[in-house]
Amino acid sequence: MVTSNKDRGVVQAVSGPVVVARDCPASMYELVRVGHERIVGEVIRLEGSSVTIQCYEATDALAVGDPVERTGMPLTVELGPGLMSSIFDGISRPLEKIAVLSQSVFIPRGVDVPSLDRERQWYFEPDPSLTVGRLVTAGDWIGSVQETPLILHRVMVPPGTMGTVKWFAPAGWYTITDCVLEVTHQGATKPITMMQRWPVRQPRPIVEKLVANTPLITGQRVLDTLFPCVQGGTCAVPGAFGVGKTVISQALSKYSNSDGIVYVGCGERGNEMAEVLRDFPELTMSLPNGEQVSIMNRTLLVANTSNMPVAAREASIYTGITIAEYYRDMGYHMSMMADSTSRWAEALREISGRLAEMPADSGFPAYLAARLASFYERAGRVKCLGNPERTGSVTVVGAVSPPGGDFSDPVTTATLSTVSVFWGLDKRLASRKFFPAVNTSISWSKNVQALEPWYEANYPDFPSIRQMVRQILQMEEDLSEIVALVGRDALAEGDKVILAAASMIREDCLQQNSYTSYDAFCPFLKSMLMLRNIVLWYKLAQKAISETDRDGGTGTTSGLSSRLTFAALRDEQMDLLNRLSRMKFLEPNMGEHELRQNLDALRDDILKSFRDRDWAIVA
Ligand SMILES: Nc1ncnc2c1ncn2[C@@H]1O[C@H](COP(=O)(O)OP(=O)(O)O)[C@@H](O)[C@H]1O
Ligand SMILES: [Mg+2]
Repeated sequence: MVTSNKDRGVVQAVSGPVVVARDCPASMYELVRVGHERIVGEVIRLEGSSVTIQCYEATDALAVGDPVERTGMPLTVELGPGLMSSIFDGISRPLEKIAVLSQSVFIPRGVDVPSLDRERQWYFEPDPSLTVGRLVTAGDWIGSVQETPLILHRVMVPPGTMGTVKWFAPAGWYTITDCVLEVTHQGATKPITMMQRWPVRQPRPIVEKLVANTPLITGQRVLDTLFPCVQGGTCAVPGAFGVGKTVISQALSKYSNSDGIVYVGCGERGNEMAEVLRDFPELTMSLPNGEQVSIMNRTLLVANTSNMPVAAREASIYTGITIAEYYRDMGYHMSMMADSTSRWAEALREISGRLAEMPADSGFPAYLAARLASFYERAGRVKCLGNPERTGSVTVVGAVSPPGGDFSDPVTTATLSTVSVFWGLDKRLASRKFFPAVNTSISWSKNVQALEPWYEANYPDFPSIRQMVRQILQMEEDLSEIVALVGRDALAEGDKVILAAASMIREDCLQQNSYTSYDAFCPFLKSMLMLRNIVLWYKLAQKAISETDRDGGTGTTSGLSSRLTFAALRDEQMDLLNRLSRMKFLEPNMGEHELRQNLDALRDDILKSFRDRDWAIVA
C-alpha cells in the first residue's frame, strides 16, 4: 500500500490498548500500523482529524509522536485453500509460519506474515460446467481443490464480481495468487484467483436464510436428547469456572456431525489452548474408504489466549465467523466454537472504559447486547449465492463464563436473549463430578419443534420417549421437596418408582465421562435406545405396582400374597436393573446394527421379566 504524508498520522496519547492519533484522516474501522514496530490497530472512533485506535498488539513501546500509517483497508481475512488445519493468532496470522520466521516462541510485534501460503501449489480442477462465453456471477463454483482429505475446497467467484468467461485455467498445479479464471464485464477483463479477501465485520452475502431442520449431533446424550441444537443454530453454554464449558466445546469440535470446525480460543488460559493443540492432531476420523485421518483436516484453530492484548479477542471472533461463512458458502455445514465470549465482552468493557463511554450494567458498554446479537445473527442455515444451487450452515456455540456462575450477569442475559439453545452448567453437579454438568431444570432448546420432521423420518418413537423422560424428571423435582421434608420411606410405592427411574436417567444415561472410549461420543441411536429401555421399565414397573395396589385395596388378592412394593420389585429384578445401568458401557464403535441388537435384547428381557411375574401382566 502506498503511503504519502496524508496517509500518516502522529500518536498523541496511549492508554493501554487504545491509542489516539492526530492528523490521520482514516476512516472508521480502517486498519492502521502504529509506531516504528508497525503494530496492528483498527480505527474505532473519528473526531475531526484525530482518530482513536484499538491495537491488537502490546502498546508498551509506543511513544507520543510515533507515526501512524494508514492501510486504506478494513480488517480483512484472506480466504482460500490452506485455511483448514491452520492455527492462527487473533488477527489471522499463521502461528507456525511466524515461529519459523522469527525463530522464537513469542510473536514479535508488528510481524507481517500473510495468512495463506503464497508459494504452496494446489491441484486445481476447473468446474465441469465452465465454458468460455458462459456468464458467471458471485458464488458460482469455478473449480475445486482437494484442500485436505476431508475438505474439497470449492473455488468460487468472489462476491461482487460477475462477467462472461474469457479464459479458464486447465487442471493443474497453481498457487493461490495465480489467475485461474478471466471474466469480462462491460469491456473490462478481470482476473480471478483462488484467494478472496473479506472484511471480517461484514457478514458474507447469501440468497436467503432457511429454516434449520437437521440436528447437530453432539455425541453428548443429555444435549442430543433433551436440549437438541440444529445445524445452523445458536447455542450458549454458560457456567462458572471448572464446570466443563471447555470440555463440551472441545467435544463438539472433535465429534459433532459438522463438515468443518472453527475453534476460537478467546481470552482463556494458555494451557487450555495447549491442550487443544496437543489433543486435536491425535484424534482421527475415518474416511469412506476406511482410512484414518486426523480431525485437524477439517479444523481451523484461532488461538488467542488471556495474555494476548484484549482488543484482539474481538478480531478473533469476527475472523472465526467469517471463515466459517466462507466454507458455508461452498455448501458445507460448519460449526464455530467460541470459548469464551465473556472474555470478548470484557475486552469491550475495557476499551469502552478507556474511551470514557457511559457505562451500563456492571460497567459493560450499552451496546453489548447489540454486539453479541449481531455476532450470533451470522449463524444460520442458508441458501448460498451462485450455482449450483446449494445450502450450507454455520452453527455457533459460545461458552459464557459469568463470574461466580451467576446467570444474571449482563453477558449471560444478553446472550440468552439471542440464542436458540441454552445449556446451563451447574457448579453443584460439577463438584459432585457429575459431567456433563447440564442442569436439566434450567436448560432449554427452542429447536425441538423444527426437528420434529427429522425425528418423524428417522426415529419416529423418539418424541414420545423424550416427552416421558422430561415428565419423569419433572415429577422427581416435585417430589424432592416432599422427600426433603418426610424422607424417602414415607413416599407412596409409585413415587419410589419415579425416583428410581429419574435416578437411572440421570446417573446411568445423562451422565457421561468424556475421557472414556465408550462415552466420549454417543451415537444418537444409542442415546435414544438407552432412554427407551429406561422409560419402558418405568412404565411397566408403575403398572405392576398400581395393579397389585388396586387388588390390595379391594381385598380381591386372588391368591397373591399382598401388594407389590418397590423394594420387592427391586430385589426381584436386581439383575435386570444392573443391566440397565450398564448400557452406557456398550462401545459405539461396534456399529449401529450391533448396538441395536444389544439394546433390543435388553428391551425384550424387560418385557419378559414383567410378563413372567406370577400375577401375569402383559405389556
Ligand atoms: N464431560 C466431562 N467428562 C469428564 N470430566 C469432565 C467433563 N467435563 C468437565 N470435566 C472435568 O472438569 C474439568 C474442568 O472442565 P473445563 O471444561 O475446563 O471447565 P471450564 O471451561 O468451564 O472452566 C475438566 O478438566 C475435567 O476434569
Ligand atoms: Mg474453560
